[in-house]
Amino acid sequence: RLPARVRIHEVGARDGLQNEKGVVPTEVKAEFVRRLAEAGLGTIEATSFVHPKWVPQLADAEQLFPQLTDLRVHLPVLVPNARGMERALALGARRIAVFASATESFAKANLNRTVDEALAMFEPVVARARQEGVHVRGYLSMCFGDPWEGAVPLEQVVRVCTALRDMGCEELSLGDTIGVATPGHVRALLGALHEAAVPTEALGVHFHDTYGQALSNTLAALELGVTTVDASAGGLGGCPYAKSATGNLATEDLVWMLDGLGIDTGVDLDRLTATSAWMAQQLGRPSPSRTVRALSHK
Ligand code: HMG
Ligand code: MG
Repeated sequence: RLPARVRIHEVGARDGLQNEKGVVPTEVKAEFVRRLAEAGLGTIEATSFVHPKWVPQLADAEQLFPQLTDLRVHLPVLVPNARGMERALALGARRIAVFASATESFAKANLNRTVDEALAMFEPVVARARQEGVHVRGYLSMCFGDPWEGAVPLEQVVRVCTALRDMGCEELSLGDTIGVATPGHVRALLGALHEAAVPTEALGVHFHDTYGQALSNTLAALELGVTTVDASAGGLGGCPYAKSATGNLATEDLVWMLDGLGIDTGVDLDRLTATSAWMAQQLGRPSPSRTVRALSHK
C-alpha cells in the first residue's frame, strides 16, 4: 500500500527562513540551498517574490535566485500576484507557487484579500505561467485548523482546492499551517477530495509540527496514495502571519521514517543532517529536529 518512492519538496530555504528574525546573509542562503541539492533533494523552494515589507527576510530574492540557477534541481518560488510573477520570470524561474487560504481570516492576514479576491489575484498569474510553460503549484493554507476560526470544514477546503485546480495549478499542497491536524482528519480530507474528483497524484501534504503529529499525518497520507511531501531541513520554519505556527516537518525526521520503510527519496541523510547542523550554527540555536539531534550526538 505504501509508495516505492516519495518526492520531497524541500521548503527550508523559504518556509524555514521566512520567520527568522535576524536577516540571514544572501551568501548563507545560497550555501544552504547548494548543500541541500548536494544532499540529494531534487526540489528546493528557493525564495518568495512577495512584497519585501511583508517578508523582509526574503527581500533579497533578486540577489539570491541568480546564484542558484546552475544547480540541477527544481527551484520553485512563491509568487502572489502579477508583480511577483514579473520579478520571477525576469530571473528565469521555471516553477512558481501561488498560495491560497481555506479561511477568510488567514486570507486577510496573509494576502490582504478575501479568499475569492486572492483567487482572482492568482488567476492571471497562473494563466501567464501556463503560457510560458512554467510549472504551477497551488498552496492551500489552513486546511485543518485556523488560529482565529478553529476547525475548518472539509467543504471549505474542497471548494478552494477545486478552484485552484480549475485555474490550472498542476500540483496542490495541503497546508496544516499551524500544525493541528491528526491522522483521522487527514484521512477525512483526502477522502473528501477524492470524492470531489481531485486526483490524489496532484496532491502534496505540508505539515507543520506544532503538536508533534507531522510524521503520523504524513504516514496517513502516504497510505492513501500521496507521494509528494513537503518538509524543511532541520525543522526550520513557521509563518509570520499565523502566530501559532512552528516549524515544518523536519526533512531528516521524514527521511529517517522513509528509509526505515524502504521508501526511496534519493536523499543522503548524513549529508542532510550535516547541512542542518551547519545551518543551526549560522542561526545560533540547535535544530528542533529529533533526528538531527540524535545523529549529531552519535
Ligand atoms: P497589498 O498591500 O494588498 O499590495 O499586499 P497591493 O497589491 O495593494 O500593492 C501595494 C504595493 O506593493 C504596490 O506598490 C505594489 O507594486 C507593491 P506601490 O504602487 O504602492 O508603490 N507590490 C509588490 N512589490 C514587490 N513584489 C510584489 C508586490 N506586490 C505588490 N510581489 C501582497 C498584497 C500579496 C503583495 C502582500 O500581502 C504579500 O506580499 N503577502 C505575502 C505574505 C507571505 O509571503 N506569507 C508567507 C507565505 S505563505 C505561507 O507561509 C504558508 C505556506 O507555507 C503553506 C502553509 O503552511 O499553510 C505556503
Ligand atoms: Mg508552511
